[in-house]
Amino acid sequence: MTSRRHFVRDSGIAFGAMMIPGVLRARVRRVAPSDQVRVGVIGCNGMGFDNLLSILKVPEVECGALCDVDASVLGRRADELELATGGRPPLYSDFRRLLDDPDIDAVIIGTPDHWHCLMMVMACEAGKDVYVEKPLANSIGECGLMVAAAQRHGTVVQAGQWQRSGAHWSDAAAYARSGEIGRIRLVKAWAYQGWMKAIPVKPDEAVPEGVDYDMWLGPAPARPFNPNRFHFNFRWFWDYAGGLMTDWGVHMIDMVHYGMGDAGPTRIAASGGKFAYPDDASETPDTMQAVFEFDDYSMLWEHATGIDLGPYERNHGVAFIGNRGTIVVDRGKWEVLPEAEDIDGRLSYLTTPMPVQRRQDDGGLDAHMANFVDCIKTREQPRCNAAVAARAAVTAHLGNIAFKTGRRLTWDDATRSFPDDAEANALLWPEYRSPWTLPPA
Ligand SMILES: NC(=O)c1ccc[n+]([C@@H]2O[C@H](COP(=O)([O-])OP(=O)(O)OC[C@H]3O[C@@H](n4cnc5c(N)ncnc54)[C@H](O)[C@@H]3O)[C@@H](O)[C@H]2O)c1
Repeated sequence: MTSRRHFVRDSGIAFGAMMIPGVLRARVRRVAPSDQVRVGVIGCNGMGFDNLLSILKVPEVECGALCDVDASVLGRRADELELATGGRPPLYSDFRRLLDDPDIDAVIIGTPDHWHCLMMVMACEAGKDVYVEKPLANSIGECGLMVAAAQRHGTVVQAGQWQRSGAHWSDAAAYARSGEIGRIRLVKAWAYQGWMKAIPVKPDEAVPEGVDYDMWLGPAPARPFNPNRFHFNFRWFWDYAGGLMTDWGVHMIDMVHYGMGDAGPTRIAASGGKFAYPDDASETPDTMQAVFEFDDYSMLWEHATGIDLGPYERNHGVAFIGNRGTIVVDRGKWEVLPEAEDIDGRLSYLTTPMPVQRRQDDGGLDAHMANFVDCIKTREQPRCNAAVAARAAVTAHLGNIAFKTGRRLTWDDATRSFPDDAEANALLWPEYRSPWTLPPA
């Protein structure tokens, strides 16, 4: 049996060269419908642990392992888990050791975005099913590798765009598809996050005790430790994430595709900058608009940190704007605002107004996890499989590439490339820090 030890960084052997799909596939343990499902979590500080608490609500699921490169996070989460469940699973600092455990059926990947691709593909190779946080990857190129790996290994992959499992999101998207509001010419999607304030500049400092910083960086470029770039705030640095454009962007843009279909955009332009907090530490824009042209509609993405008053006085949401009315939906509710016209001296609605419909569930996360567990057993495709997640991630990353180039870009969705545009194509892939290498196509 090929040991995961072959993947150890200091072996100096390229990761891709060690892929032996036939051998690794033999390790796959399929879970029978009556079986317990043992889940391991990689990256437990924030959403990884929230995901665990949610999936543990499915009666046949148990936690089989926790992994984190920060010993203080690992210890704290293990204590909390013990308090909640009475059990303390094996703890790992190296996710490859967790993947070695044949009793783990599935992993939750809750690390920063720059790790998602490698970890997901390695988990597929190890025969684990995967719940991977959004955005699917930190680049368009990696998204393609992940979709291919899931297919190659028959892995059940669910991505963390849990709105896909929220009943009111589903109702709003179905309403958009129904034609009730007429032809939809524009969709707005936005995130104004008032609680995300400026990140004051801090000097680099010694790596905190108990943190395997080299393993936190993984394939990202080497640099001294800076607390601003670490837990949670990694979002605002290009090496690890894509700012609000991808962080909130994939959530909302996924709902745009849910209502409008899977076709990708053909042209993208973006503008914005660090206008609110020009001197803070973050690299990604605190204010940004991106326009995506699709064949028969446009999408406008807007984001802002530090303020909440987005379109329709909501701090996030999606608005499908049709000839007869507008559907507005956010994490708490949806409604239909009708267009009105003067017909024979009387103001008449062009579509039936719908007052605010409040959500009746938790928004979708619990149902999303239950759907993942169901699919582990049935081997069916979950609601937000790798291809669905890639659709939203690719669209969102296009916004960032348009922002970085400062030009209106032409995109060929079939080949997932920018025709005759070397500068933009160069932004499709990250450069992995040796000895980590991109997984095989
Ligand atoms: N679906 C959602 O609603 C939602 C919400 C929040 C965050 N997220 C996503 O979850 C991911 C994590 O975000 P967060 O806010 O929880 O981040 P975080 O920084 O709070 O937590 C990430 C954890 O991963 C650990 N980690 C990093 N590299 C690791 C490695 N090589 N092995 C093991 N552990 C490692 C870190 O030490 C940290 O504890 C991001 O991709 C983010 O976009 C999704």
